[in-house]
Amino acid sequence: MALFTTTTIRDRYHNAIVDWQERNFPELSILSSGWDKYFKGQRPFELVAKVGEPPSNVIEFGRYAGQERFGRADLMDDEMFYKARAIITAQCSTELGSIQQHRMSLERHVSDEAKYAIMRIMAEELRHAYQMLWVLDQDATWNRQGEDIAKETIEELLSMEHGEHVLDAFNLDFNNFLDNVVFAAIIDMVGKYQLDMQRAFSYAPMACSMGPMYLEEGFHLGSGKRFTKEIAVQAVQGQGDYSLDDVQRAINKWLPRGLEMFGHEDGGQSNLTYSFKTKTNLQAQTEYYAEVADLVHYINTHIVRVFNPDMKVPEARQVVDRVIEERNTHAGVRYEDLVKLPSRSFFRWRGKDEHIYQPFTVTGELLTHDGKPAPSEHYLNYLKTALPEPFLRSADFEAYKERLFEAQKKREQRAHAAQV
Ligand SMILES: [Fe+2]
Ligand SMILES: [Fe+2]
Repeated sequence: MALFTTTTIRDRYHNAIVDWQERNFPELSILSSGWDKYFKGQRPFELVAKVGEPPSNVIEFGRYAGQERFGRADLMDDEMFYKARAIITAQCSTELGSIQQHRMSLERHVSDEAKYAIMRIMAEELRHAYQMLWVLDQDATWNRQGEDIAKETIEELLSMEHGEHVLDAFNLDFNNFLDNVVFAAIIDMVGKYQLDMQRAFSYAPMACSMGPMYLEEGFHLGSGKRFTKEIAVQAVQGQGDYSLDDVQRAINKWLPRGLEMFGHEDGGQSNLTYSFKTKTNLQAQTEYYAEVADLVHYINTHIVRVFNPDMKVPEARQVVDRVIEERNTHAGVRYEDLVKLPSRSFFRWRGKDEHIYQPFTVTGELLTHDGKPAPSEHYLNYLKTALPEPFLRSADFEAYKERLFEAQKKREQRAHAAQV
């Protein structure tokens, strides 16, 4: 059982976040009234901060290893102070942003059970945001150069509209309910990694916050995984609102943004130096990618069992491997009947130069034309075969197109400059 105490933040901020909830998540009252129907025996939702135990009182990594965790913000030097603030801000922004996104397609739910699961996720993300406000509010020393940084940060966070959040994944529209569930599976999985790494946070109130948040994240990820699998299984049976191709395209939409949430592949050293996290960006991203591969494998194993209801799980797993490796039919399962893990270079907006805005396919091939990367028009044609239809028609995709053409223009200018 998790050991934590609960507490609240000061009235002015408590009221401000309740006000935010009423505007952005009025469905919270529906969740409360139906809680027992779906989550009987589980502690009802409460908007509080949960203060757990850090793994130890001592910083284990980096420059301050062996020293006691920082209990007050004013003990951190400028660089550390502002980096800590940036992580708290990014964390809180993801929580608030995801609520705004989930709400966009909540009413297009595939079942009441799925709707309640998503509303519970939204409520818990609200609590996670509250937790981050607590980190800032419980310490009167979040000031620098005469400025009340806690106040500034809280006000900034609560005024962020959809589209104004820190990370790309939280600014994209949800176009249908597949977005709700695939996001919970793939993007909340990144959340799990961040929370786990941040248990080592050198600023104690942040470290104390991670355990309870991590536990709640399990439900988000579990629900995402379960409903994505159910939708995929229904799809191969010709049931439900979505095809397997829709599921594949939704995975293709979200995975690149999930990978980028870890930050640039070459970065993350300062997180180790200050003991904000326990892994570099690339290490964490690599582990995450392997876990997404497991998720895809899990879905496929269930698909194989649709075709072979009596087959045991280990055997079904082997069938998945053979069908994928040989691109051939086995046990009645065709290559097209399975979902595939997109390449890490596909549809990247941030990270290494050789990946971003480059025409990589889902299988990781670079599309070429006359020996050079294919022009953007060709790539856009390719993307029509790989991304969700509603996304291709969205303002998000229009904005992407502009950035893609801009990136191509810059590359051409650089190549031209190198020639003359
Ligand atoms: Fe969260
Ligand atoms: Fe979550």
